[in-house]
Amino acid sequence: MSMTKDIQTIQHSASGASIQVHPFGATVLSYNNGKKEILFVSESALLDGSKPVRGGIPLVFPIFGPPSNGSTMPQHGFARRNYWTQKQTFDTTTSAGISFELDFQDVSAGIGEQNPWANGDFNCKLQLELEFGPEQLTTKLSIRNTGSKAFPFQTLLHTYYTIQGKAALDPSQCYVKGLERYKLIDKVGNAIDKHPIIIEAEVDRVYDSPTKQLDVTIGVGNNEAVRMTAMGEVDEVSVPVSCVVWNPYVEKAANMSDFGNDQYQEMICVEPGILTYDGVLEATKQASLTQTVFPL
Ligand code: BG6
Repeated sequence: MSMTKDIQTIQHSASGASIQVHPFGATVLSYNNGKKEILFVSESALLDGSKPVRGGIPLVFPIFGPPSNGSTMPQHGFARRNYWTQKQTFDTTTSAGISFELDFQDVSAGIGEQNPWANGDFNCKLQLELEFGPEQLTTKLSIRNTGSKAFPFQTLLHTYYTIQGKAALDPSQCYVKGLERYKLIDKVGNAIDKHPIIIEAEVDRVYDSPTKQLDVTIGVGNNEAVRMTAMGEVDEVSVPVSCVVWNPYVEKAANMSDFGNDQYQEMICVEPGILTYDGVLEATKQASLTQTVFPL
């Protein structure tokens, strides 16, 4: 199938649920379960392929955050900075879906310099499979090592949820439950490790997993919630899934050119990721990260 630069809308005919996907980064922009929108996209997001989409579900691979080893690979890696190729679509009575692929051979942006990806040492093929209906959206990112050398990696599904009624700062409406036994690594330095997690200031936290399966409940406003589960595998063995929780709050929102000044009141990011796996992905082997979002 040929490469398209158009945003794809996929309908589940039997239920009226739908998703929208931008081929740039294979970024899911919208999941409407037939009743309401679940995802947040910034009013100032750039959709012309000049920058990762600020919203939806950007794909983070092969690094989380800025590189630390002198590499100039940009923050969160190259997966969200390149056009992916659309593959199959389907629409059955139970669910609908679409898939995309990105071959590292076709990656032109976001590799940076002074790292093994830039040196031609590594190779990979990424696949994103999306399946949805009225009850759930499943997002599965698979990474196959198509080179001859093992590589280390991190990956996340950087999911932006919309908070109805702009109630992200109301603790009765916007919260994350289910990370009580996780180890907190605070990237801002202001966090008190209390639960449920609520937004009282800038939130930028990594919760490292004591278990393999992630299972959280996210308050999304209007007295409603979303359940999110996630699991990871490397070479067919389950690995722990960490969870990043992010809200830029006042100052950082004002400093982001692709984000409305007040839009921190309309969103929360809850991002499952393979972050603490300290092995490598061996040549020919596959890793995967699967997230399922259930509007409650
Ligand atoms: C989160 C990080 O995952 O993404 C934050 O923990 C970061 O530190 C945020 O600010 C947004 O990143 P970016 O690169 O999309 O602006």
